[in-house]
Amino acid sequence: MGRTFTSRLTGLLVVLTPVLLAQQAAMAGPEEDRIAFSAFYTARFPDIAIADFADGIYAIDEDAREQWLDIEDFPPYEFTIDNGAALWQKAFASGGTYDDCFAEETDDIRPHYPRFDPTIGEVVTLKIAINNCRSQHEQTAYAYDSSEITAITAFLAYESRGKQLDIRVPEGEPRALNAYESGKQFYYTKRGQLNFACSDCHGISSGQYVRADRLSAGLGHPTHFPVYRSKTGGMVSLHQRFSGCVRDVRAKPFELQSEEFRNLEYFLTYMSNGFEVNGPGSRK
Ligand code: HEC
Repeated sequence: MGRTFTSRLTGLLVVLTPVLLAQQAAMAGPEEDRIAFSAFYTARFPDIAIADFADGIYAIDEDAREQWLDIEDFPPYEFTIDNGAALWQKAFASGGTYDDCFAEETDDIRPHYPRFDPTIGEVVTLKIAINNCRSQHEQTAYAYDSSEITAITAFLAYESRGKQLDIRVPEGEPRALNAYESGKQFYYTKRGQLNFACSDCHGISSGQYVRADRLSAGLGHPTHFPVYRSKTGGMVSLHQRFSGCVRDVRAKPFELQSEEFRNLEYFLTYMSNGFEVNGPGSRK
């Protein structure tokens, strides 16, 4: 009798444990992830005010910060913003403008991208939305690394400076959650010959050196893009940065605006929800 009871109990636990674990996993949604992501960095860098993580490595490295502030006194991306503003304001041959394609005012577009589009079931980034607008107005799409589209994103970032990132994973939309989850998985998956995940360098090793470079925190990463890089003397997008980091671990590169990178951007930008947009920026 006692034995039967014990074995029944064991049997019940075997059945229940996976159910309980599954329930816990189901409860840990994007918002729980974001809180845990942020708490990791505030515990790791207790002296850094949370908003300062938007400054990337310059939040961590004081010497580099001084040089960077000097550069920001005469922003090397100023011309790009002006160029982007002119492109944005110029009417298409159809008579329409970019403004017609966006629900938000010009100074409130950037904080809401990337966003999940239920009609296509995919994540739409700002660059995709800009090109969609062009095709609606019978204009050819820009290449994703063209100076024009990057200038437009620089202008939109500048217009939204000070506004908080507000990325949504709509409830009751499993495809949005899937996109978010695949971006999250990308971030934590080791890859390439060096077998490093994004989180290895920008999480558990943040603040440390790899060769001559000191590693920034993943928190706040998307706030300031696109950036002017003094190393290349040109503007660089977030996906170009993703590409560079994937190449650095000697892994298979993904296309700019590929589904993988859009989902990665969705996850990573969600992690920085509440941070103020401060793009465009400048980096080494
Ligand atoms: C081997 C280490 C390493 C790995 C792995 C790595 N990165 Fe980086 N990453 C760097 C270094 C070094 C820099 C330049 C210094 C800095 O800002 O951290 C950088 C810079 C960046 C930046 C620009 C930061 C800024 O403030 O502008 C972003 C964004 C970024 N990485 C994202 C990623 C993502 C996403 C992944 C995963 C696909 C990844 N990185 C994987 C080393 C790494």
